Amino acid sequence: MNRQPALGRRVLVTGAAGSIGSRLCSALLAAGCRVAGVDDFFSGLRGNIEPFAGDPRFFFHERDVCESGLLAELSALHGPFDAVLHMAAVVSAPWSVENPEYTDAVNRAATLALHEEARRLGVGAFVFAGSAAEYGLPLDGPAREDMAGEPQSPYGLSKLLSTKAIEESGYGCALRLFNIYGTTEGNPGPYDGVVRRFLDAALRGEPFTVCGDGGQTRDFVYVDDVVRALLHASGASGGEPLSGVFNYGTGRATSVAELAGIVAAVSGRRLEIISLPERPGDLRHSRADMSRSRITSLPMPETRLEDGLRAAWERLREKDGRSG
Ligand SMILES: NC(=O)c1ccc[n+]([C@@H]2O[C@H](COP(=O)([O-])OP(=O)(O)OC[C@H]3O[C@@H](n4cnc5c(N)ncnc54)[C@H](O)[C@@H]3O)[C@@H](O)[C@H]2O)c1
Repeated sequence: MNRQPALGRRVLVTGAAGSIGSRLCSALLAAGCRVAGVDDFFSGLRGNIEPFAGDPRFFFHERDVCESGLLAELSALHGPFDAVLHMAAVVSAPWSVENPEYTDAVNRAATLALHEEARRLGVGAFVFAGSAAEYGLPLDGPAREDMAGEPQSPYGLSKLLSTKAIEESGYGCALRLFNIYGTTEGNPGPYDGVVRRFLDAALRGEPFTVCGDGGQTRDFVYVDDVVRALLHASGASGGEPLSGVFNYGTGRATSVAELAGIVAAVSGRRLEIISLPERPGDLRHSRADMSRSRITSLPMPETRLEDGLRAAWERLREKDGRSG
């Protein structure tokens, strides 16, 4: 079952105009899939889908994932889907604190409705973008899938509740994604991750701002590695689609201070740091236990942090050169 090669497979990507979603669409098209993309441009950008918008195998729908019956409608239009890759979400934890109801509606309620509809329609694979924010408790060591609980934000909670429901249903999978870096889409916003903020500061020749003492650690995983894992989980790279919950990170911890040093080295800028007060609720350490993912034969991340940062820096510089 579902050993059908990627060629001709019909895939729905939600959040298609987002940083990860747009890269996923590109990769799926390159693998020979036909791709329908959905996005309401809540945080996604039209520019992100421009590079492949003219591909005759790509169909874009400006729609809200909260609309009921969306999958059935799109299936009737395009034919039955082999896989749904659900990336659409309100992605900022700080924003979710101010807007818990909207966050819940998009990140949990719409996810569960889409998941149920996909199952009812017999879609072979359902892949959900979970998050390391589902672990909220301070952990001394790497986070194992069964340790998730007490997320610190409505964002983390909405992801945890979705992941749990998917796991319990026995249909589809959730990849708990750790700190993804290497996306250079759009302009950096106030909620962008620390890597993008450092790279952007380097580009402008400004000092790096660090909240707290810089000793907090994160598990930084390169976006191309994440896209490969998502493809694998959906069966688009040839294997069986996955079912269950799986961490996706490198398993390695890097402190924010170390990260600043690497960005400075890669960009050839002087390492100058401005310290800001620690952000309340920020986890001290976050790192994935990758045992379960390894056993499941998920492709492990291959990109060294220095290499991924260099690639992202070069892309940002090129983009800056084009716009400037
Ligand atoms: N970037 C990370 O470090 C990271 C880490 C863990 C999990 N994730 C998850 O990965 C997924 C992709 O994140 P991203 O970093 O590409 O963020 P992003 O903001 O670039 O992408 C999210 C996309 O979803 C779209 N969207 C939001 N609400 C929608 C709605 N109601 N209907 C249709 N589209 C809607 C947005 O417009 C955007 O294009 C998200 O589910 C996020 O929670 C990301």
